[in-house]
Amino acid sequence: MDIVSRVKNAIKRDCLELGHFEPWFYPVHLLAVEKNAKYLLKKMPDADSLVILLAVWCHDLQRIHGLPGDHQKAGAEETKRFLPQFGVSKEIIKKVADIVALHDFDARAPKSLEAKILVCADAMSHFDNSFYVWLISSWLQRKKFSMKQAKKDLVEKIELDFNKRIFFEFAKKKLEKKYKLFKEFYKTV
Ligand SMILES: [Fe+2]
Ligand SMILES: [Fe+2]
Repeated sequence: MDIVSRVKNAIKRDCLELGHFEPWFYPVHLLAVEKNAKYLLKKMPDADSLVILLAVWCHDLQRIHGLPGDHQKAGAEETKRFLPQFGVSKEIIKKVADIVALHDFDARAPKSLEAKILVCADAMSHFDNSFYVWLISSWLQRKKFSMKQAKKDLVEKIELDFNKRIFFEFAKKKLEKKYKLFKEFYKTV
């Protein structure tokens, strides 16, 4: 079995067995990020597919392994601890960890093509399925927000995902209708 498949299987197991985050996270989020990363890789075949696909499986490790601290920083550190067991080279691990460290919206926009593809695939995946419904229910169940606050934050997240995290014009065009529909829907419900 190749390295990416072995990493994917380990992440799947950790998502479903460790239970640090809700079980929807693997099928609804991670599989959709993988699908979108593969779509973007087809459009941009010069990008390093190994780095991107490893980043797909590692980018939310902080959440999957239930680690305290900053989502990006703790995730990047965990990536460096997690990947060596699969025989990934130090050079590749560093590239993957650098992407994990900057994958959420951040004032420091990702610079490399690989980092842009991962951030874009992550944002695109949110328009692929019922991700935002799962997210809002997750926020409400943790009693972090009132319904009014959750809806306001969700519309902000939709704006941020579409306008700041989808770097490629062709990807924006593909999702523009859904973005407008989603935004209207969550504003009015
Ligand atoms: Fe994340
Ligand atoms: Fe993610």
